[in-house]
This record gives sequence, C-alpha cells and structure tokens, in this order.
Amino acid sequence: MALPSVEMATSERNAVLDGVLGIFSRILKVPPSRIVPDASLAENGIDSLALFDVFEPIKATFGVGLSMQQVLVELRTVREIASFVAGRMGTPSTGRADPAQADGRTADVRAGASLDACPDGGELLPPESADPAGGPTGNVHNLIQSQLDIMALQLRLLGRAPADMVAEPADAPSSRVASTEKLIGMPFITVSMSPATCDDPQAAEYVRAFTARYTAQTRRSKEHATEFRALVADCRNSIGFDHHTKELHYPIVADRMADARVWDIDGNEYVDMTMGFGVHLLGHDPSGLRDALTTGASFGLGLRNSHAIEVARLLTGMTGMDRVLFVNDGTEAVMSAVKVARASTGRNRIVLFDLSYHGHWDGVLARGGKGGDRLRARPLFLGVTPGAVEDTVVFEFGSEEALRYVRDHSSDIAAVLIEPVPLRDPTRSSPDFLRALRAATRDAGVALIFDEMITGFRCHPAGIQGLYGIEADIATYGKVLGGGMPIGVVAGRSAILDSIDGGPWSYGDDSYPRARTTMVGGTYFQHPLSMIAARFTLEELARRGAEFPATINGKAARLMDGFNEIFHYSGVPVEAKGFGSFFRLYSDHSLSLLYHNLLLRGVYIWEWRSWFLSAAHTEADIDAVLAAMQESIEELQRHGVM
Ligand SMILES: Cc1ncc(COP(=O)(O)O)c(C=O)c1O
Repeated sequence: MALPSVEMATSERNAVLDGVLGIFSRILKVPPSRIVPDASLAENGIDSLALFDVFEPIKATFGVGLSMQQVLVELRTVREIASFVAGRMGTPSTGRADPAQADGRTADVRAGASLDACPDGGELLPPESADPAGGPTGNVHNLIQSQLDIMALQLRLLGRAPADMVAEPADAPSSRVASTEKLIGMPFITVSMSPATCDDPQAAEYVRAFTARYTAQTRRSKEHATEFRALVADCRNSIGFDHHTKELHYPIVADRMADARVWDIDGNEYVDMTMGFGVHLLGHDPSGLRDALTTGASFGLGLRNSHAIEVARLLTGMTGMDRVLFVNDGTEAVMSAVKVARASTGRNRIVLFDLSYHGHWDGVLARGGKGGDRLRARPLFLGVTPGAVEDTVVFEFGSEEALRYVRDHSSDIAAVLIEPVPLRDPTRSSPDFLRALRAATRDAGVALIFDEMITGFRCHPAGIQGLYGIEADIATYGKVLGGGMPIGVVAGRSAILDSIDGGPWSYGDDSYPRARTTMVGGTYFQHPLSMIAARFTLEELARRGAEFPATINGKAARLMDGFNEIFHYSGVPVEAKGFGSFFRLYSDHSLSLLYHNLLLRGVYIWEWRSWFLSAAHTEADIDAVLAAMQESIEELQRHGVM
C-alpha cells in the first residue's frame, strides 16, 4: 500500500542525527560530543567492526537497515548516515519491509512509540502527533527516546551490562582512536576514508597529480582490474577500498618473479616485500625447485605417491609430532585440526583469540559477544550463521581471563586454537602467556593447537614450539612449506590424529584401526606437486641449518630499524613493529598514499600490508627499500599530506 510522502523537517533530521550519534557513542564508548558528524568515519575512529555493531541498533531504533557496502561507497560521515536514515524514515517505501520490521521485537518497539504498522509491510511512518503541542519533532524525539529506553530494558533483561547503554562521561579517554590502517584485525574489507587531505587544495592537487603518475606507470594493471572485477569475484578487489584514492585501487599484475624481485605487466620492476603472503621464504623460483616439479609433472591423482612419506618423515622429525595429515591449504588444516580435536576429546567448544586469523572456515570466523554476553561468540561476517560459532568462545589475546576460563570449563573445551605470534599484531606475542596456556590446557585435558601458518619454518625449524620450547598437541602449517604449491598440514599427537583413520595397525597380528573416527578426506590431498615442493623446501631448510632463520631476522631488523629512524627524523607518526622476519607499519593515520608511493618507487607491498623478508633479499634490496621509504616520506611531507 503506497503511503503519502512526508518530507522530514530539519528539526526531525537533527533528532535522528542525535539518535545516530548516541548509538555511535555507546558503541565507541566515547561521549557524543567527541564524534564529529562531518568528519570521515575513519577520523572518528570508526572502523568496520564498529560499523557492524551500529547497524543492529540503528535498524532496531529507526527501522532502517544499512549495509556495509552502502557505508563503504556512499555514506562517509556520521551525518551522511543519519541523513540516509532520516531519508528512509521520511520517504515511504513501496518495497518489502526491512527484515527488522518483521521482527517482533521491533514491532513492539514501534508500537511503544505509537507508530502505525504499515499493513502491506512497507516502511512505517511517524503519524501526525496526537498532541497538538507536540509536532513531528516531538514524535521523532519520542520515538528515539522510547526505542532507546526499550532497547536498554531489553538488553538488561537479556543479561547484558546496563552500562553498555550509557555513554561515558565527557572526559573519558577514547578507546577507539584507530584509523583504518591501524585496523589490523578483521574484517577484510576495511572502511578507509583517508586522507583528511582532500579538504586542503594543495593536498588535493597532489593526490590528483600523483594519481596521474601512478596510473600512467601501471596502466595495464589498471586495465586488467577493470575487466577482472566484472568477471572474478575476489575479496582483493575491494580490500582497503578508499573513496579518495579509488583511482589507485587495483592490484598490480605480475608478469615474472625471481628471487626477491617481481615484474609487472607494464614492465616495472619491484623488490617484493610481500613474498607470496609469506610463502616464498626461499625466494621466488629457488634454484632446483622448478626441476623437481618438472619431474613430478607426469604424476596424476588416484594413487598414492612416494613423496608424501618423505615429507611426513621430515615433518615429524622437525616438529616432534607423531603423525601428519596433508590437506590443500591453511584453512583446511585449521578446520581439520579443530575437527580431530573435537573428535578425539568428545567435546565441542573451542577457544580463540581476538587478534587471530585462522582462515576462511565459518567455525573460526567469530568475534566476542557484547556486554554480559561477551563469551558468546557472534559471526564475524555475513553468511556465517550464529550456529556455526555457537561452540566458540573468543578472548582477548593474552588475557588472564582466557586461562581462567580454560581451567574452569575443562570438561566442555575440545581445544584452544591460537596463532602463537599474531600476524596482525606480532608485538602481542608472549612466551609466558603461551607457557601458561600450555599448562592450563594440559591440566584440563584440552588440546592446544598452535596455528603456525606464518611462523612455521620461518622463526625456527620447529616453529614457535621450537623457539620457545613449548609442545603443542597439534600444529598447523602451510605457506612456506609448499614453496608456492598449495598445501596445508595438521601435525599432531597420535591420540588425536588417529581419529582420522582409526590409528596405525600392523600385519601378521590382531591389530586393527581402533580409534573412533571422524571424516576428513579430499580429492587433492597429498597432491604430488605439493608433496614434491614440500620435500624440496624441507630438505633445503635442513641444508641451510639452524642458523637460517637468524639470517633473515637480521635483514628484517635492519629494515625495521632503518624505517623507524626515517620516521623518527621526519617526525611522522608511524612505527615499524614485528617479529623475526615479518613486520607491519603502525599509525593512527591512513598510510594508503605512502604505500602507493612505495609501489611507484618499486617496492611491492600487497593490500594487507604485512611485510615479509626472505632468503632472497639482498643487502642492496634493503638499501633500495630504505631509500624508497625516505623519498616517499619526503615527497608526502613536501606536499603537506603527511
Ligand atoms: C595464521 C593463519 N592461519 C590460517 C590461514 C589460512 O591459510 P590459507 O590462506 O592457506 O587458507 C592463514 C592465512 O593467512 C593464517 O595466517
């Protein structure tokens, strides 16, 4: 049923803005006065996690649903969000009801605010005020206030902390000052509205001129991206999307790679600081690998190949684990590790930590619950059901609370899954915490899983387990191990991995596969090319000896120290921090233009901005990268954008 259009008065729009500010203030835990309605979301410290959190109360309060895509592309400030919401409230929709309106809770809230329900499920409109003294403004104010009151009541009834609904006092320190570049956790698609520079004509002119230079130099990559985006759905099409630097937003397409160098399809040469997201520890195309792969190219699938047992021998020897499972990538390794932990313990719950990334399997795409329900994990992304994470508990990395929880809930927990050094903030790594976690899990009979996808073979031949002398029950590997071929490995104690095949048995006696089993199997498991590449990698690492990681760590240290010296003397608020041979740049400001400057100067760094050193990086490469950083900072400072 079409409803008459109602133009919303300015005062009503202001009331909606106040309501939206109130919601942001509660989520960010800062007073509304700290949020600048016309500043970009990033400048207000609003990252995509915070946005996820405000969508629900905005929908519950105003009956208007927002999507991340809308906010990424169209709504760049709190005022724009509020205007959009007000517009949707003031303009009737002839379409279907927002799902929130079908929700009984929302309908009650609306009834409480004395709104008429639209019979055909269209948008609901505020009726004329029954009180001649109150105008439409009064209605909107009342609506917002009553809805907030009811939400507070509902949350209290649901056992959430009432304080959740109360803004902090004006002088409370802001706990959310990070800009998008500092958003080092999930989700993947970050909202980046940098740089603040575009209000400044000099900076805007610089961005324009820089964009022209950059797009001329990488013209073919940009053309490739234009067609590619239409045909291939790929999260890298939009990671770090930024309105102001949109014209620079496309992945560089490679033509050739060797050692620590890559060449793009425009013929530009780069020092590669991404190295296959940490895969190519030995460099691109290391001597001998190609020949080994060529000999293996005649292998097909369907039978077992003799390389797998060699890789298993090397792996168990290096990691001290009893048995291994070969899968296709890190995600599958983590998924299988959790499954065998659950199968072997007969328990369901897994404990995770907030900074971690464990691949794109639903069961680990979780974030902590809110308020009093903090321990009840919520899906981190659309498409992940609450059911998929209901047996998951997410703690702050390194928290005492996690240790207490493991001790107190031992009979429910199958496993604690941890990235022992979180890539997204390697500085948070703590051997003491890992040791305490080992002790707590051992006492509780809980499997401890080290996800060594990044640290495996990079920090120590036995990964973090070897470096700190901590024995996990299961360790997952991938990346470096495959030397560029797809691989994932679950290495673990027999008692756990036996749940895949019932355990080893022998001939000529009465043994049989005794353990109770789950289901893990795949067409491409133990793929011959992956096995050949893994064997090559492990043999090469063994040949290079125990000192090998230290040589690469030394290069990373020289690069980080050099960067920090440049940042310090230039007075730019950026810091390089890392662990062993990988690191990240930290800043409260967007570094998008800095990264593009580096790319233009021949330093390849991918959209997730983790830096990886390899055996192939030379001292000259490091000098070249340091010089590129110095020149980039000078250029950005000269034009007032840093
Ligand atoms: C710690 C960790 N675990 C798991 C994964 C998932 O691995 P993959 O991308 O091979 O599925 C990653 C990927 O970066 C990772 O860093």
